[in-house]
Amino acid sequence: MKLKRILIFCVWGLVMVASVGAQSLERITPGQEWPDRKGEHINAHGGGLLFHEGKYYWYGENRPARGFTTEVGVEVYSSSDLMNWEDEGVALAVSEEAGHDIERGCIMERPKVIRNPKTGKFVMLFHLELKGKGYAAARVGFAESDSPVGPFRFIRSLRPNAGKWPTDFSRRDIRKAKKLKEADYKEWWTPEWREAIREGLLLARDVPGGQMSRDMTVYVDDDGKAYHIYSAEENLTLNLAELTDDYLDYTGRYVRIAPGGQNEAPTIFKHDGVYWMITSGCTGWAPNEARMFKAASLWGPWEQLPSPFVGKDAKKSFHTQGTYIFKVEGTEDGFVFMADRWNPQSLKNSRHIWLPIDFEADGTPVIRWVDSWSLKDLK
Ligand code: DGJ
Repeated sequence: MKLKRILIFCVWGLVMVASVGAQSLERITPGQEWPDRKGEHINAHGGGLLFHEGKYYWYGENRPARGFTTEVGVEVYSSSDLMNWEDEGVALAVSEEAGHDIERGCIMERPKVIRNPKTGKFVMLFHLELKGKGYAAARVGFAESDSPVGPFRFIRSLRPNAGKWPTDFSRRDIRKAKKLKEADYKEWWTPEWREAIREGLLLARDVPGGQMSRDMTVYVDDDGKAYHIYSAEENLTLNLAELTDDYLDYTGRYVRIAPGGQNEAPTIFKHDGVYWMITSGCTGWAPNEARMFKAASLWGPWEQLPSPFVGKDAKKSFHTQGTYIFKVEGTEDGFVFMADRWNPQSLKNSRHIWLPIDFEADGTPVIRWVDSWSLKDLK
C-alpha cells in the first residue's frame, strides 16, 4: 500500500514538472522578465516583428550579460500567439573574419526584417557600428535570407544616399547649404547654429559620403514600397528614405524630419490614413520623454505633437525607449508599442515593455501604463 502511494506521488510529481516546463504565458507583464519556451529571458533587444504565414517573428539584438559590443549577432524567435516564443537561434551571425564589417565585437542594433513580395526574400536592415570605432561609423547594414529564421547573408553596409540631396531641397537650398562650414559654428546650440543645422550644415557635409545612419526602423506602406527611417546628422535629424523595389538599396528619394530635433528610436505606424511616428530624445541608455509626429504623407510635412505617454513617469516614457509598433493580426485597431527598458549594467537583461496603443476620439494615440494585459483585449 505504501509503495503504491509513493508511486502515485512520483507520477503526480512528474506530471507537474512536465506541465510547468510547457506552461504557457497568457498575459503581458511589462517590466517583468519575459521567458521564452525554454524559460530564458528573451534576448532580442531593440527588436522588431514580422508576420509571415500565420507566425510572428521577433528579431532583436542578442546582447551579452556584460559589455556593449555584439558577440553573437541578431537573434530570432517565433510565436503564433505573440506571448509564447520559441528561440529559433541566430538569424544573422557576426563574422569571425578580421576587418569584416560585422566582425565579432562590432555593434549591431535595432534590426528590422521585411519580406519582399517580388523576390520572396526576407531583408534585414540594422544599425551597424564597426569594431573598435565606438559609434563613429553610423552605417546601415543589409542582409538577406530565403527563410524568416535565416541564416541571413550579410550583403553590405553603407551610409545612405551618397551624392543625393533631400527630395524637397530646391537648387537654391542646395546652394545655400553648400556654403555652410562647420568651422563657422564651433559652438553648438546657439540660435545661429540651430539655423545652420536646419539649413543643412551637417547634411551638406555628409552628402558626398552618404548620410549618417544610427537608430532606425523600416516601414512598408500599403503599396509595398519600403522606407528606412534613421537618425542622421550626428543624431540631430531624422531621414526617411525610400528603398528600391528589392528593398536592398535606396532610390535616392529622401526627406529630413525635424532637423536639429535630436530624435532617436523611431517607430512608425499608420492609422485611419494618418502616419504616426513616436521617437525618443537622445540620452544614451537613459530614458527620456518621447516625442510624437503626424503626417498625411510619408514625405511630410511632419507635425510635432506632445508625447503620447500619459500618467505617472510619462516624462520618462515609463523608463522605456521605443523600438517598433505593430498591429496584431485580425484586429481592427490593436496596435502595440514595443519598447526596451535598457539595463546598461547587463544589456542582456534589459526588459521588454509592450503596451497597447489607445486612441482619443480625434485619432491621437495615447500610451498608458498597465501592469498586466492580454492581447485578447485588443479589438
Ligand atoms: C540610444 C539608442 O537608442 C540605443 O539603440 C543605443 O544606441 C544607445 N543610445 C547607445 O548609447
